[in-house]
Amino acid sequence: MIAIDLPTPGAEPAEAPVLSRHWSDDEPWLLRNYVHRNGYQGLKVALQMAPDDVIDMVKASGLRGRGGAGFPVGTKWSFIPQREERPKPHYLVVNADESEPGTCKDMPLMLATPHMLVEGVIIAAYAIRARHAFIYVRGEVASVIRRLRDAVAEAYEIGVLGKNIFGSGFDLDLVVHAGAGAYICGEETALLDSLEGRRGQPRLRPPFPASEGLYASPTVVNNVESIASVPAILRNGVDWFREMGTEKSPGFTLYSLSGHVTRPGQYEAPLGITLRELLERAGGMRAGHELKFWTPGGSSTPMFTAEHLDVPLDYEGVAEAGSMLGTKAIQLFDETTCVVRAVLRWTEFYKHESCGKCTPCREGTYWLVQILQRIEDGTGTQADIDLLAETTGNVVGKSFCALGDGAGSPITSSLQYFRDEYDAHLTGGCPFDPALSTVFANGGSA
Ligand SMILES: Cc1cc2nc3c(=O)[nH]c(=O)nc-3n(C[C@H](O)[C@H](O)[C@H](O)COP(=O)(O)O)c2cc1C
Ligand code: SF4
Repeated sequence: MIAIDLPTPGAEPAEAPVLSRHWSDDEPWLLRNYVHRNGYQGLKVALQMAPDDVIDMVKASGLRGRGGAGFPVGTKWSFIPQREERPKPHYLVVNADESEPGTCKDMPLMLATPHMLVEGVIIAAYAIRARHAFIYVRGEVASVIRRLRDAVAEAYEIGVLGKNIFGSGFDLDLVVHAGAGAYICGEETALLDSLEGRRGQPRLRPPFPASEGLYASPTVVNNVESIASVPAILRNGVDWFREMGTEKSPGFTLYSLSGHVTRPGQYEAPLGITLRELLERAGGMRAGHELKFWTPGGSSTPMFTAEHLDVPLDYEGVAEAGSMLGTKAIQLFDETTCVVRAVLRWTEFYKHESCGKCTPCREGTYWLVQILQRIEDGTGTQADIDLLAETTGNVVGKSFCALGDGAGSPITSSLQYFRDEYDAHLTGGCPFDPALSTVFANGGSA
């Protein structure tokens, strides 16, 4: 077993980057390098506390889930029944499916510092009294799966996984499970079905995973970034974490910038930063071009325009301005991009990924693609634009899971901000040259 000293709370600066601080270092994925940089110190702190106290600490930090909805992490953990008369096993499942168009933060995090996630998993499992944990990874990313499995093997070798971790009497087994590449398997109940070996389709709720999740037992499902944020909170304390971000959305987070931006990539910052500030760091829009529209949190979140450059990018600020922070996947499009074509591409994605369980989404996404295609081709009519809005209304709020609602977001918001551009397609077809807008030149989602 390796020696790990206890940290001095608050010794690290209360500033981003925290999650990505060591991404550019030499081989940050190796255990020895992780341990040199405070690795597994948060776990040591946690194991000296009672599990309920760990939950209380994460609750007090105000950490919110980074998988899309922003639900408080500690509160979710506290829903797991802790003192049942006839206890069932508890499970922790990390959602590493990451398939939302534009979302690309969890994969680099796991590739660069897999031990940060493994450490978070052990702390979270200890807190909810789970003895088995799973990381469900999107199946296509073989390099990430390999790196995670290597990190898990290293963690077993030094005794931070397995029996009697750090002599605490706590045992934990961690399995890295590769999915088969379906967007719907990121929806937490579809993920659980897939993990159990069934076709991944959302479950009816209630019962919620906290009471009947994996194998009908109490289960916490959390996003990769949510869990990877926990060790730093244990090391540095609640006040340290709350020094960053805003009161209701405290802490640091990863914003993923893609599209027509000079330097696309991951930008870690306190919650509440604006796109104007992020763009300053990313070198602005590509030279000679202007921002036309952007997604604050992936393609399932209503789009914004250049008018929204100063919206605080936290859960409250984005909601107040009419969208959702989602996964903080900021896709940027300049004036060369046809909004109808962009929305058509996203809708094709939702049609392809619709699991088919409910009629509004299965049929609706099919028809939405047909209508958008007609408008984009220049064969649409005014009635088609009305039909587009009406069909979207038959999907949003009427589908079985949030995929249907997400599919409607780009359509409804683009009609709100760019109705003129839809109308312009009715007389003479698409006025944009696809060769100028590199983002959608190859088809598929951005
Ligand atoms: C269609 C769909 C896809 C989703 N994909 C993901 C995903 O890839 N990763 C993720 O963490 N959450 C995803 N979610 C959200 C999860 O259902 C769940 O809310 C999340 O994993 C909870 O983690 P958090 O509380 O840490 O944010 C998706 C939801 C839907 C409806
Ligand atoms: S909304 Fe779409 S993805 Fe969700 S259950 Fe219905 S068909 Fe499946």
